[in-house]
Amino acid sequence: MKAVTWQGTRDMQVVEVPDPRLEQPTDAIVRVPSTGLCGSDLHLYEVLGPFLDEGDILGHEPMGIVEEVGPEVTEVAAGDRVVIPFNNSCGTCHMCSTGLHSQCETSQVRDQGSGAALFGYTKLYGSVPGGQAEYLRVPFGNNLPIKVPEGPADDRFLFLSDVLPTAWQAVAYADPPSGGSLAVLGLGPIGDMATRVAQHRGVEKVIGIDLVPERLERAKAHGVEVIDLRSADDLGAAVRDMTDGRGPDAVIDAVGMEAHGSPATKLAHQIVGLLPDAVAEPLMKKGGLDRLNALYTAIDLVRRGGTISLSGVYGGMADPIPMLTLFDKQVQLRMGQANVWRWVPDILPLLQEGDPLGVDGFATHHLPLEQAPEAYDMFQKKRDGAVKVVFKPGG
Ligand SMILES: NC(=O)c1ccc[n+]([C@@H]2O[C@H](COP(=O)([O-])OP(=O)(O)OC[C@H]3O[C@@H](n4cnc5c(N)ncnc54)[C@H](O)[C@@H]3O)[C@@H](O)[C@H]2O)c1
Ligand SMILES: [Zn+2]
Ligand SMILES: [Zn+2]
Repeated sequence: MKAVTWQGTRDMQVVEVPDPRLEQPTDAIVRVPSTGLCGSDLHLYEVLGPFLDEGDILGHEPMGIVEEVGPEVTEVAAGDRVVIPFNNSCGTCHMCSTGLHSQCETSQVRDQGSGAALFGYTKLYGSVPGGQAEYLRVPFGNNLPIKVPEGPADDRFLFLSDVLPTAWQAVAYADPPSGGSLAVLGLGPIGDMATRVAQHRGVEKVIGIDLVPERLERAKAHGVEVIDLRSADDLGAAVRDMTDGRGPDAVIDAVGMEAHGSPATKLAHQIVGLLPDAVAEPLMKKGGLDRLNALYTAIDLVRRGGTISLSGVYGGMADPIPMLTLFDKQVQLRMGQANVWRWVPDILPLLQEGDPLGVDGFATHHLPLEQAPEAYDMFQKKRDGAVKVVFKPGG
């Protein structure tokens, strides 16, 4: 089959690899007609290179049709239409039972000190072959696949794999009071969807902040009050002006460790991407090369006693955190990979009734898998209005 593979920093290639096979009696094999490209894949493109091996198959936002199941799989059968969550969650352990699927105790990557294994996401997360491929081996066949109905085109359900539950969790963790206010930093797929979820859940004032004109326009078109980072001399003052002088009840950071505006560490990030793994790995884990610009902004913006919800991914350690301000402002911080299955019962009914979150028109690009190298580059550089890319393997 064809698959998108990592071959080196900023070097993704589509190559022929062996088809995946059933390995455990509870596995399923899924044919993948639609699979997303995520902001998290961009960390692999550049910064997280030290944790990848040449030939690793990327991607963690697949959906498709079950081809084949192992002898112990009873909950799905060949021909079923399914979406595959990015967490490899067993669905039955203590953590999964409490809704913390990203901490699944069956798939936890203990030798790396990490939570649940993830598809296509480095040795930190189990080196599991990913979903930007024509076929995918899916573990936990009785509990992991989300069965979805026939009818609407793939994009209606595809974003259940990551974007929808991630945005849903971001808003749930931010927990702005009804009639309250929320600022969202970053209007990529996650931030944009978080603003839609917040509006759907009745948050009165939703402020979106980014520096890419098409992304700001897109959010504005569905009623978000946007601020262009490039022209905001004093972002904190601008946001406080919009929120009775106090700051928003909650702030979502949908940017993560590669934030624009932290020039000192940009070079370090690029260097780490080019170092030999043995040197770069400890540097990355312990050296703390996060660009915390977005987090610092969130700490400044949020009102006293408010909540910061991080869905942007962080990976380093040593950057200074303004503990005095966090403590003095009585800020609550919540974060983590999305617990996909935790939110499926909340989201799936919305997708069956209609399209209140606008998922049908959410993707800006549908591309053949073969164009993945150009697509990664376009998405990273935010060219051609690319906000969400969906690959169509075999199409
Ligand atoms: N927690 C999870 O489960 C989960 C799931 C998916 C994605 N993510 C993470 O969420 C983040 C966003 O993902 P995405 O797919 O939307 O990617 P993205 O990279 O397209 O979005 C990031 C956006 O932030 C903007 N930005 C950069 N610096 C900024 C700053 N200082 N202030 C405000 N905006 C800034 C960029 O212009 C871009 O539009 C990434 O870190 C990704 O890894 C987390
Ligand atoms: Zn993703
Ligand atoms: Zn589990």
